[in-house]
Amino acid sequence: MSSELDALLKENRLFPPSEEFMENSNIQKWMERYGIQNYDELINRALEDREWFWDEFARELEWFQPYQDVLKWDPPHAKWFSRGKFNITHNALDRHVKTWRKNKVAYIWEGELGEVKKLTYHDLYRKVNQMANALRSLGVKKGDRVSIYLPMILELPIAMLACAKIGAVHSVVFSGFWAKAFQERANDAQVKIAITVDGFYRRGKVIPLKENVDKVLDEIPSLEKLIVVKHAKCSVEMKNGRDLWWDEIIQTQERECPTEIMDSEDPLFILYTSGTTGKPKGVVHVHGGYAVGIYTTLKLIFDLKDEDIWWCAADIGWVTGHSYIVYAPLILGATSVMYEGAPDYPEPDRLWQMIEDYGVTVFYTAPTTIRMFMKYGEKWPQKHDLTSLRLLGSVGEPINPEAWVWYHKHIGNRQCPVMDTWWQTETGMQLITPLPISPLKPGSTVKPFPTVEADVVDDNGESIREGGGHLVIKTPWPAMFRTLYKDPERYVDAYWSKFPGLYLSGDVARIDQDGYFWIQGREDDVLNVAGHRISTAEVESAIVSYDAVAEAAVVGKPDPVKGEEICSYVILKEGFKPSPRLKHLLRQHVREEIGPVASPAYIGFVGDLPKTRSGKIMRRVIKAKVKGDDVGDITTLANPEAVDELDNAL
Ligand code: WTA
Repeated sequence: MSSELDALLKENRLFPPSEEFMENSNIQKWMERYGIQNYDELINRALEDREWFWDEFARELEWFQPYQDVLKWDPPHAKWFSRGKFNITHNALDRHVKTWRKNKVAYIWEGELGEVKKLTYHDLYRKVNQMANALRSLGVKKGDRVSIYLPMILELPIAMLACAKIGAVHSVVFSGFWAKAFQERANDAQVKIAITVDGFYRRGKVIPLKENVDKVLDEIPSLEKLIVVKHAKCSVEMKNGRDLWWDEIIQTQERECPTEIMDSEDPLFILYTSGTTGKPKGVVHVHGGYAVGIYTTLKLIFDLKDEDIWWCAADIGWVTGHSYIVYAPLILGATSVMYEGAPDYPEPDRLWQMIEDYGVTVFYTAPTTIRMFMKYGEKWPQKHDLTSLRLLGSVGEPINPEAWVWYHKHIGNRQCPVMDTWWQTETGMQLITPLPISPLKPGSTVKPFPTVEADVVDDNGESIREGGGHLVIKTPWPAMFRTLYKDPERYVDAYWSKFPGLYLSGDVARIDQDGYFWIQGREDDVLNVAGHRISTAEVESAIVSYDAVAEAAVVGKPDPVKGEEICSYVILKEGFKPSPRLKHLLRQHVREEIGPVASPAYIGFVGDLPKTRSGKIMRRVIKAKVKGDDVGDITTLANPEAVDELDNAL
């Protein structure tokens, strides 16, 4: 295996898609309609006439009233399909129940304990209508915010679609975050209603979400009602007048519900993501352009057809799930698999078992998951018939060529192209990505999606062809975020100011001689731990909020499976002594402040941290130390001796 891999890397071998695969692909059929001969011609035609391209796909969706302009671009503000009247839930559900798809399965859901539920488009439509009516009866109106704090159960997409149906703006909080993180996000969005669950299963254990949330509800002044889904059936306390059972409030609701006519540019959701400060950014997406962007990418990149069984094995709490578990597959009328639990529970073949059970044809996951299964070994996938698969995908972090090749060989049986898709919460849709007609290079996200112009630039904003630089996007795309919630200035400052008119992604990338993009990772103080975006500042502020702590510095430590692990150096206050117990308590504290995903894998107690003479912590030096790189010039430090102390602290 490794000699095969070495050869492959030296050869810089291309993996061209098979003729048969190309011929049957959605993109090839679409190109034939316009007499487009090949990939390069497609990219050129789309760049020449962006509006033509997007207009074609927007017309495949249903508009209550046609839009007037495809794009109005007043950098950095875009309006797509303006004056069009639209609703994303209408496109995801209402229109399908009028067709043969009415009785097609929309979701095959599997619980961690093995329970299976299937919902057809009609079932889902009914449930969404009832929930939408229930929300309306609780006084939720167009533009009101609803916080959804649910694990991977069917009520999560139902709640999202119900909000969208009545024009409410949902803000989903990842169930792996803890109550304080939920509180902060709910307060920022000033939510009227929140939806949560009694508990859910993770690795066979019940996680009591409602009990947790109870601790913070009094600190969310805008909150009027809490809707609780009964799932794990663990005991919970319901507060009279505030807490309502999901099952009870939908019982009396009509099964039809008028869909709110939205403007194309009306907000659909806020999704909080980490930035370089401790305060999460409320990324705002809208109904029209977002729907068109995610629909088109799923159709063309993952080539979904009516016969496919699609499984995007992400969590709906992150953007990948919003776009490619909830909205895009439903707009396409696809059948999706949805799974509640951990991928290697109870055994490391859970995913492969499920692919076999449901005959999954297209599978999309993260490099961390692939690397974890590589470690378990190929004997686990070998136990299962995975021949239903025809296409694979990767997202969330750079995939190393070795993991790419393993995935291609052991999961895809060398038959399935791997779509390594680069995108972000802010971009809403896949942006730099192969198509089924592109020759692939393991580890490269290939090229920008048709119409998208991306580049790698130096500090002066000049294009560079050698080495890494800032990854920027030069042109607008329909699913782009429109602003940061209640913070339009930060939208401009954080993304559009460094190079005016260019979108700054925060990633470092390089472009090779064939124009292929190689994403190298974040350039800012945002960590990517197993595909989860976590801000160092947020973790630092959680750590220093602990009694015993005076100062803390958080950096990423390279990890072969997770990409990075959270590593923190901590200075204790006078009178406190380092101890294993204190480490444990600190981890516990971060779990409670942010969530288990942010709990540091490494904690080192130090007497001092490397600082500039003005007292600023030199994170660059700490990062270099942790990575084992040369620390460079440290003569400007106020306390160079602190650098050596880092060595023995972990
Ligand atoms: C990283 C997830 C390399 C990148 C959809 C980006 C990737 C961040 C890839 C966004 C990829 C995502 N190759 N890196 N294919 N896809 N990333 O907002 O650093 O949770 O900036 O969105 O993940 O993470 P987010």
